[in-house]
Amino acid sequence: MHMKLALITGGSRGLGLALSHHYTRRGYRVIEYSRSAPHPYSVSVDLANPETAQEIITSSLQAFPRDGYEEILVISNAGTLDPIGHSSKKPIDQVLANLNINLSTPILALSTIMAHFEEVPCRKVVAAISSGAARKRFAGWSLYCAAKAGIEAYIETLALEQSLSRTPAIPVIIDPGVIDTEMQATIRCTTADDFPEVERFRRRKVEGGLATPEAVAEAITAILSRSNLTGGSRYEV
Ligand SMILES: NC(=O)c1ccc[n+]([C@@H]2O[C@H](COP(=O)([O-])OP(=O)(O)OC[C@H]3O[C@@H](n4cnc5c(N)ncnc54)[C@H](OP(=O)(O)O)[C@@H]3O)[C@@H](O)[C@H]2O)c1
Repeated sequence: MHMKLALITGGSRGLGLALSHHYTRRGYRVIEYSRSAPHPYSVSVDLANPETAQEIITSSLQAFPRDGYEEILVISNAGTLDPIGHSSKKPIDQVLANLNINLSTPILALSTIMAHFEEVPCRKVVAAISSGAARKRFAGWSLYCAAKAGIEAYIETLALEQSLSRTPAIPVIIDPGVIDTEMQATIRCTTADDFPEVERFRRRKVEGGLATPEAVAEAITAILSRSNLTGGSRYEV
């Protein structure tokens, strides 16, 4: 019996946790990568440190042979908005951590995982959880907007490259919409100095305008299972 494998970053909580639960319930072997690594299927890694993170991810893959799969799903989900505010006013280590967590390390991680499973002929899906902020700009979110736009450009380019492969993966972008997670709680705690639109985000919570992580995870998993999933496409939940 061939294995179904789901590799998910940021599965400790929020959307990544809901995705991990979904795939576990459906018989996938799930591995999640986060700092707190609270689950038996977690690997502890800090994506703010690209080189160490790549070593940890590479060594975690040694447990997985290069054949015998029915499906391989890779979901780059971990992300952060911190530090919110003008990048010119933030310490350089925080600026670099944001860009590493949201952009540099996901690229290294996806490259490492894709190389490991390159010759595997099964259905392979690579999904980057992006954001409306990849396209719309918000004062105070310059790093997050830049990183999410960057990861979308990466996935679109990867899709062109994969289309030339004998055993291609399907790289896609997912815009999950607005979800009731710690990320939104962090936004609501920001000062208007750092994030001028903060009041609108506080109101949205009070008015019930946030989707649950479980509902968004269900919608994403339905998208990723589509038989006509198209490499390089952007899907909105
Ligand atoms: N919530 C929203 O409204 C919303 C809207 C649009 C897009 N998104 C996107 O959806 C994805 C999931 O967000 P969420 O709302 O579920 O956020 P969340 O609740 O804050 O969870 C973030 C996840 O990323 C992991 N993570 C953060 N920094 C990390 C680091 N340095 N190293 C390793 N893992 C790290 C966290 O794990 P540890 O803390 O254990 O490391 C956690 O599992 C993100 O890509 C986000 O940009 C969210």
